[in-house]
Amino acid sequence: MNMPNKINLAHLPTPLEKLKFRNKKFLIKRDDYSGLDFSGNKIRKLEYLLYRAKKRRAEIIFTCGGEQSNHCRATASAAARVGIKTKLFLWGNDSNSSEGNLFLNKMYGAEISFLNKKNYNNVNEIMLEECASLVNKGKMVYVIPEGGSTVLGIWGYISFINELSEQVDLRKINGILSASGSGGTAAGMLVGAALNKLKLNIYAVAVLYSKQELWKKIMFLAEGVIEEYNLNCAIDESNLVIIDGYSREGYKNINNNKLKLIASLAKETGILLDPTYTGKAFAAYHDNFLGIGKGNKVIFLHSGGLFGTFAKRRKYLLNL
Ligand SMILES: Cc1ncc(COP(=O)(O)O)c(C=O)c1O
Repeated sequence: MNMPNKINLAHLPTPLEKLKFRNKKFLIKRDDYSGLDFSGNKIRKLEYLLYRAKKRRAEIIFTCGGEQSNHCRATASAAARVGIKTKLFLWGNDSNSSEGNLFLNKMYGAEISFLNKKNYNNVNEIMLEECASLVNKGKMVYVIPEGGSTVLGIWGYISFINELSEQVDLRKINGILSASGSGGTAAGMLVGAALNKLKLNIYAVAVLYSKQELWKKIMFLAEGVIEEYNLNCAIDESNLVIIDGYSREGYKNINNNKLKLIASLAKETGILLDPTYTGKAFAAYHDNFLGIGKGNKVIFLHSGGLFGTFAKRRKYLLNL
């Protein structure tokens, strides 16, 4: 198989732990332990993307996301580590009291351009236009789309399946559930499972896009990587299950019931989830799988995102 190269930045393998919550046991894969500054799921994709950026002698990386984007923060810190500058195109506003990921982006020295929602809808065009103007001046720019979800980036989660299969017999597991934004994590796992001939359901909890949009994004990436790298596998579409309805309050918000669930998991297990992604995914996991008890053969993927907690500090303090 023609696997792309990567730089080693993440602390792998991440642990697979047995956890008990409300008297129910389940397995949790701790990708929140993939590092500190560049923790979470994004670093697995960035290992491949930054290798390519270095190879192309990029001086600056452009990428985009919400103002509390974990992907942008992970890019800013990992790029700093490999000696490349970052420019972030963020949907949101600057503030003097920036918190969480936004604050960290400033610490890592990223240049930031803020866009309103309307302009953010054209963020790819905006990045490419600015990239072209820098390239004309002789600068080398590497553009990473939202969430690092490209056919190259998703190799991070194709190889994740190999890592997980060293930790548990995946033939005895029914599925893996994770939060899904740009869809790359789910797409990578879907392809990884197909390559290993595993009948594994990938449960993608939609936090940003509608069910239909997310489905299309995941399938586009999964089929794209199979075609581009000539992989000897085919996706069984029935293995992709999009779980909808857990982000009705909006991508940047979280409702009080979910905040309470996050707080109760933290109190009972010492494990913290974030308000944008993993808190919503865990609410879906709780409703759909945790109650099954002993027969629960679905792994919960903790994909990180903890710095986002600090941006919601006031909401937590008011509602708990
Ligand atoms: C903590 C966390 N979990 C899950 C996701 C979703 O991953 P993907 O964009 O690959 O669907 C993200 C994306 O930003 C994230 O930051």
